[in-house]
Parts: sequence; C-alpha cells; structure tokens
Amino acid sequence: MVFLQTTNNKRHTTTITMDRKILITGAAGFIGSHVIRLFVTKYPNYMCYNLDALTYAGNLENLKDICDLPNYQFIKGDITDTDFIEKLFQEYQFDGVIHLAVESHVDRSITDPLAFIRTNVLGTANLLNAAKNLWKDNMEGKRFYHVSTDEVYGSLGKEGFFTEKTPYDPRSPYSASKASSDHFVRAYFHTYGLPVVMSNCSNNYGANHFPEKLIPLSINNIKNNKPIPIYGKGENVRDWLWVNDHARAIDTIFHNGRLGETYNIGGHNEWTNIDLIRLLCKIMDKKLGRPEGTSEKLITFVTDRAGHDLRYAIDPTKLGTELGWKPSLQFAEGLEKTVDWYLENEEWLEHVTSGNYQTYYDKQYGNR
Ligand code: NAD
Ligand code: TYD
Repeated sequence: MVFLQTTNNKRHTTTITMDRKILITGAAGFIGSHVIRLFVTKYPNYMCYNLDALTYAGNLENLKDICDLPNYQFIKGDITDTDFIEKLFQEYQFDGVIHLAVESHVDRSITDPLAFIRTNVLGTANLLNAAKNLWKDNMEGKRFYHVSTDEVYGSLGKEGFFTEKTPYDPRSPYSASKASSDHFVRAYFHTYGLPVVMSNCSNNYGANHFPEKLIPLSINNIKNNKPIPIYGKGENVRDWLWVNDHARAIDTIFHNGRLGETYNIGGHNEWTNIDLIRLLCKIMDKKLGRPEGTSEKLITFVTDRAGHDLRYAIDPTKLGTELGWKPSLQFAEGLEKTVDWYLENEEWLEHVTSGNYQTYYDKQYGNR
C-alpha cells in the first residue's frame, strides 16, 4: 500500500512516498518519544503522527531533534474525546497504531483515580473503536499495538517471575486502569478480529523521564542537595530496563509479533530501591566531584505508598526465543548514561520542574 504524503511546514515543501501511516499516541512523553524517534529515523518510508494532549508529562522538547523531519507530524489532541478520535482516524486513514498515551504515575493514581480511568480506559477504548470502524472492511496489513505494563500482574513475593500466563491482579488505580485497557484490547481481537498485539514491560529508565518517578526524581534531588525520599524501608524490588531497549522491543513486536499475542519485556535486572539509590548516589558523587558518601546522606525514609507492590520481575523468554530480542545494556552503564544525560540537559530539567511541578512535589512529599 502506498500513500503520497505532502508535508508543508515552514522548513519542508516536499512530496515523499510513504508506505505506512502510523499513529503513535503519547509520543511527547517518556517512552513514546524514544519510540517515535526510532521509527522516524529507522523507517523514512513511514509517516509517523504523534498524537499527544501535552499534559504535564508531555513535552515537545523531547522531540526537538526530529520535529522537522518530513515523516514526522505532531497532532495536539485528547484520546478521551470520542468524536475527535473518530474523525481523526477517518481523515488520516492510519494503517498502524502504537498506543502509549497514558496517565502513568502510581502516586497520582492514588490521589486522582478517575483521571486514570478516563485516559487509560476510555481513551484506549476510543482508539480501538475508531480503528475498528476504519478497518472493518479490510484488516489486511493493519496493526493496533497496545503498550502496557507488568504492574497489571500485581505483586510478587521473593520468588518467581511474571510470564504472559500470569493471572492479572492489579492493586493500584494505575495498574487497574491499565489491566482494564488490556482486557478491552483482547476483547476487540476476539470479538471484532481487530489485528492487535500487546506488550507488558517492566520499569523503564533513561533520558526524558519525568522527575516524579524514582530515578529522575532522585537525580534531580541529589543534584540540588535535597532529601531523597524512599518509601517504607526501600525493600521493594523493581526490574529496570533501559528505555531504548524497550523502544527496540516495540519495533520488533510491532513488525514481527503474532496477532492477538502478548509479549513480556524485561532484562532480568532486579534491584531493591535502596540498593539502586545507593548505586545512583555513588555515580552522582563521582560525576559531581563530591567526596564518596556525600549523596547517600540525603537518603530519607518516608511514609510508604498505600498498597505498595513488593516486587515486580519479568520472564522475557517468549520475546527472546520467538522474536530474538534481548537487552543491549548492563544497568550500571545505563544508569551512568542516564545521569550524564540529566547533567547535560539542565535546561530540560529546569523547564519540567518549573510551574506545577513544585505544587505536586509539596503535596506529595511535604515541604522537604
Ligand atoms: P508518560 O507519562 O511519560 O507519557 C504519557 C504521554 O501521554 C504524555 O506525553 C502525555 O501528554 C500523553 N497523554 C496523557 N493523557 C493523554 C490524553 N488524554 N490524550 C493524549 N495524550 C495524552 O508515560 P510513559 O512512561 O512514557 O508510558 C508510556 C506507556 O508505557 C504507557 O502505556 C505505560 O503504561 C507503559 N509503561 C511505562 C513504563 C515506565 O516505566 N514508564 C513501564 C512499562 C510500561
Ligand atoms: P516509580 O518510579 O513511581 O515506578 P512504579 O511505582 O511504577 O514502579 O517507583 C519505583 C519504586 O520506587 C517504587 O517501589 C516506589 C519507589 N519510590 C520511592 O521510594 N520514592 C519515591 O519518591 C518514588 C517516586 C518512588
């Protein structure tokens, strides 16, 4: 299938041949920005549309290096707006969707669960419905990729791993909303034959991560000599994956994953929060030229998160054996690269932590 795409923005007036029109939702956010960068640079013959409402978590600065490419276009819009989404699909005639738009922060889901139901459940259902209506007469070559999280599986004890067969057991409003959206995606596959594929990934880290999440928040606080808030005793375990490896996995699954299937993405990289933060403190001391042990003194144990899941850990065997994906980077190297990125991008950090960030921070952590 070949589409002719005319781009007419201020820098380009050119006609290029596009053989796929892909809608990537939430591509101004953390993971989406890495996914769309990979797609527009690796596939110059794909026209990639970034649909994003630019909530507090969306930032076009994440995309300034690719925003003038002829196969990239930004569309500002809200996935919860049913009529807008329906018209958008009819107008642009997408033949692929990679869905990442989301309310993503567990702590915010505890204070405002309805926002998560609206965006993560209703928003996903709107996209599914619009894709079904557009593709109903010909599903050939079409693909709806839903990006999800390992948090839908609930909380592990000290042993075991999440596989694709682990029963869902979400325990926060965030994970419940993601679980619900996952169920809708599978329902559209079984009921309407919508060509879907899904993945559930472990915690990501890397550039462009909004500093409300553990790693970027701690980097920002260490840099500014502020307390590092650790929930409870810091014994909770997360399985960390470099965001660029997640983007590579999404590329692999989008192109080669079997329809109706789910793939778990992870790199067997489990850390307790306290051990991770101690490693981060060491790296930061070195980078900032501070005596070893300086940053560790900032660690402050604070009231635990309500319903805090103890441990997440992914078994990525299916993705590895079926599609040949494996992570590219060891954690210590990835964390150091991440610290370098934050220290080199002070302006980005200043922009995202100005305005409403301080209001959120004071509400969540008190005036520390
Ligand atoms: P993020 O919060 O960084 O970005 C979300 C993006 O969605 C933002 O750009 C925001 O503006 C946009 N958005 C929010 N509501 C919208 C709406 N109503 N309409 C249109 N756009 C809207 O999120 P992220 O961490 O990049 O997560 C992306 C996906 O990856 C999600 O599906 C998430 O569940 C999944 N995931 C994230 C992680 C992680 O560690 N961050 C791990 C596994 C899976
Ligand atoms: P987070 O980055 O919010 O990701 P998620 O909850 O989706 O796993 O949190 C990662 C872990 O760090 C989690 O166990 C909660 C903990 N945490 C803290 O201890 N302090 C903090 O300030 C934050 C934001 C998280």
